[in-house]
Amino acid sequence: MTAFTIASDTRRATAKPRDAAFYQDPYAFYSALHLGTPTFLWEDYGHWCFTGFKEVNGLLRDKRFGREILHVMTREELGWAPPKEHTAAFDLTEKYSLLALEPPSHTRLRTLVNRAFVSRHVEQLRPRIERLANEIIDTLEPEGGTELIKNFAAPIPAVIIAEMIGLPAEMAPQLLAWSNRMVQMYMYGVTRDTELDANRASQDFMDYLRQVIAERRRAPKEDLLTHMLTADPVDGQKLTEDEVISTAILLLNAGHEATVHTTGNAVKTILESGRDPKTLFATPEQTEATVEECLRFDAPLHMFTRYALSDVTLDDGLSFKKGEVIGLMLGAANRDPKRFRDANSFDPFRTDGQNVSFGAGIHFCIGAPLARIELQVALSTLFKRLPTLKLAQTPRYNNVYHFHGLERLDVAW
Ligand code: HEM
Repeated sequence: MTAFTIASDTRRATAKPRDAAFYQDPYAFYSALHLGTPTFLWEDYGHWCFTGFKEVNGLLRDKRFGREILHVMTREELGWAPPKEHTAAFDLTEKYSLLALEPPSHTRLRTLVNRAFVSRHVEQLRPRIERLANEIIDTLEPEGGTELIKNFAAPIPAVIIAEMIGLPAEMAPQLLAWSNRMVQMYMYGVTRDTELDANRASQDFMDYLRQVIAERRRAPKEDLLTHMLTADPVDGQKLTEDEVISTAILLLNAGHEATVHTTGNAVKTILESGRDPKTLFATPEQTEATVEECLRFDAPLHMFTRYALSDVTLDDGLSFKKGEVIGLMLGAANRDPKRFRDANSFDPFRTDGQNVSFGAGIHFCIGAPLARIELQVALSTLFKRLPTLKLAQTPRYNNVYHFHGLERLDVAW
């Protein structure tokens, strides 16, 4: 039985997000959709979804849609239940998250954080990332093989973002553990136990940050936490403590999960392609191009949603009521044959590789310059240091459709 069905005449499709046959290879579904039904009602989610590159890129930038809805509609109007008491701590971490806000709050918060993430600033971290990648490989090399996600892909972005924020590198494993428990809330079909656990992790994470913030207020340091606490006001307002905490948690969560998955997906893609890694990382320019193609070919984040902020009719006649949700399928847009030549083939030498893996518009990934450097350094160092790297087992993806990353990646050299 195929993992999906598509009815072109009614523009409806089914694909079970938790069906292994589907999430192990969502690209089969995307290819079939690109053939004639790029915009469709995904019955399992109950909302319309877009796979065309032009549409996804356009809707991410379209101000008639947003990530927040409660600034223009009440919970009652939306038919939502009141907030759950047992997820209050988790909800507080989200309340001031850049990803949960629209202008003007979004603009103010993003302006205050953005400076730390501009390319010229994060470029200075390159030597630190190189040192870290080499140190990890020094330890792994004598073993002749390893599980690469846990032992190589995960520690690099976790340590770097922790240090950037101003938290000790030794805290990285604890931060990862909190973060992993919190991101369970974004999965399909969340249970009450998951909610309780994510809430406990949120409370512990916030308590820890409040304590570090109190230390920074007493003794400021050269780190992002101090910067956020002392930054000049934007529109007359400084960041509140809750905003600083929400932002720090978002950076820690967003800052490693996607980078870890991209590293794993990229190593798998390169090894399965049979291409000579030496040519893929021959120059800094080629390394950049290889990383972009890895991001395009097997994106780590496959779907983001938006709310219609007013009643909207799109150019193709499709209408949405205020408050309705749409799905923007980044992983599918990156494989749109109308946009990419030979879209389903991995070609690190292509010149048309610009993709939407980091999104577009006002929520465009603030960490993109940092993630790109981490990926360039991690991948080129890995393949340079371990030139005989090969897969020791066929890797499998996690049972989380929209966080498209590997369960484990067993390799040998
Ligand atoms: C390969 C790695 C990464 C990928 C593929 C990725 C992807 C994305 C995407 C697609 C969005 C937009 C979501 C939307 O429009 O709804 C986003 C937003 C964001 N990302 Fe990333 N990200 C990565 C790494 C990072 C890193 C390293 C950081 C921070 C250190 C980070 C921090 C953020 C933040 C704060 C936002 C919210 C921006 C806003 O709403 O204004 N990301 N990311």
